[in-house]
Amino acid sequence: MHGLFFVLVACTAGTSAFRLQQIKSTGKDHTVFFKHYYELHGEPVVLKCPSPRYKHLDFSALTPNITWYKNGSKTMISGKDEDPRIWAKGDALLFFPAMLEDSGVYICTRRNSSYCAEVAIHLTVVEKRAAREIAYLQILFTFTSGKIVCPELWDFTPNRTSLELKWYKDALPLEDDNEKFIILKGSTSLIMTSVLPTDAGYYTCKMSFPFEGAMYEVTRTIQLETIITPIIVYPTQKTTSAALGSKMTLPCKVFVGLSSHVHTDVEWLANDTIVDVVYKQSRVTEGERQEIVENGENFIEVPLIFDSVEEVDFYTDFTCLAQNRYGYQFDCLFGIIVIIIRICKNNVKQC
Ligand SMILES: *[C@@H]1O[C@H](CO)[C@@H](O)[C@H](O)[C@H]1NC(C)=O
Ligand SMILES: *[C@@H]1O[C@H](CO)[C@@H](O)[C@H](O)[C@H]1NC(C)=O
Ligand SMILES: *[C@@H]1O[C@H](CO)[C@@H](O)[C@H](O)[C@H]1NC(C)=O
Ligand SMILES: *[C@@H]1O[C@H](CO)[C@@H](O)[C@H](O)[C@H]1NC(C)=O
Ligand SMILES: *[C@@H]1O[C@H](CO)[C@@H](O)[C@H](O)[C@H]1NC(C)=O
Repeated sequence: MHGLFFVLVACTAGTSAFRLQQIKSTGKDHTVFFKHYYELHGEPVVLKCPSPRYKHLDFSALTPNITWYKNGSKTMISGKDEDPRIWAKGDALLFFPAMLEDSGVYICTRRNSSYCAEVAIHLTVVEKRAAREIAYLQILFTFTSGKIVCPELWDFTPNRTSLELKWYKDALPLEDDNEKFIILKGSTSLIMTSVLPTDAGYYTCKMSFPFEGAMYEVTRTIQLETIITPIIVYPTQKTTSAALGSKMTLPCKVFVGLSSHVHTDVEWLANDTIVDVVYKQSRVTEGERQEIVENGENFIEVPLIFDSVEEVDFYTDFTCLAQNRYGYQFDCLFGIIVIIIRICKNNVKQC
């Protein structure tokens, strides 16, 4: 288990631009949730009445009795025969297509004879030229492969095998035969074989959706941010030597490029356990973290300090671990790099 290891986990699936939050809970069986949909004028929209699982009750059993209103309007939105553009079906409210004036709050009510759950759903419809203002943020690490996901399509494509998307970067179509991008039929992902800092920007995915003789288009805009995976610049060797009883400091220096220092954690482990836990802040300690700027680029340095090297240290793996996190909302997205160091007794060539 010696040497330089590289692990990268990036999961961006379904990063989305809306929040689901419980805003009100009045009484025992009355729940209001808020969900915000952002959509483009002229495109089909499906609002789903979520099934709030309130306490131990499963309101999904109330599906047949769902009613929809637009807040401020007294009339219930009914079936397709009443209005061929906006109608309710099952647990969904459909707009074919949505228009700017449809923006507002829609309230769906699920009920049976004893329970009632109300859900308020925000819909904001914007002009096509404002698509970037409602873009979904996604983040990828540079210098490795990654994928962008075209979000929130499944209401239109129950049949995944027939899914076909067109992808654009800053309005220019991306070619599938390009070595940089892989577009798989039946997938909502755009795979990038190697992400570069210059790949940041706006991506658009488009899906054609035929419905009752008319052809609609579903467009999603993604704002891609790229961040660097931290690089351990020091130590470069996986061994170092020390004499028994000597003092020693092992600095670990990490390059984070233009990324802010705050996104990167650097720590030392002894046999995979945090140093301060193993040595209880006594003989071996982690020194103070330093945030360094050199030529406009950011580094972090954390030293491992031995008051006195002991025999057991020659048999312990010391690991410097640098980990990138990008905000709590992306806690499944992080890049990790580690280097594992072995200490050798002075004058011992091989260890
Ligand atoms: C109404 O729905 C609630 C929640 O699912 C359920 O516990 C209850 O039995 C239902 N009542 C009737 C009369 O169906
Ligand atoms: C519904 O509309 C009324 C009057 O405009 C407003 O006071 C209320 O906050 C709205 N409800 C929701 C859930 O947005
Ligand atoms: C729907 O509502 C009606 C009357 O409000 C009620 O009789 C019926 O049981 C409900 N259906 C379901 C499946 O809860
Ligand atoms: C899905 O679409 C494919 C291609 O259009 C078609 O061959 C297949 O029968 C469809 N499957 C279902 C379950 O509709
Ligand atoms: C680390 O593991 C090695 C091998 O299992 C063991 O000899 C050594 O004592 C351990 N070091 C510490 C600090 O526990």
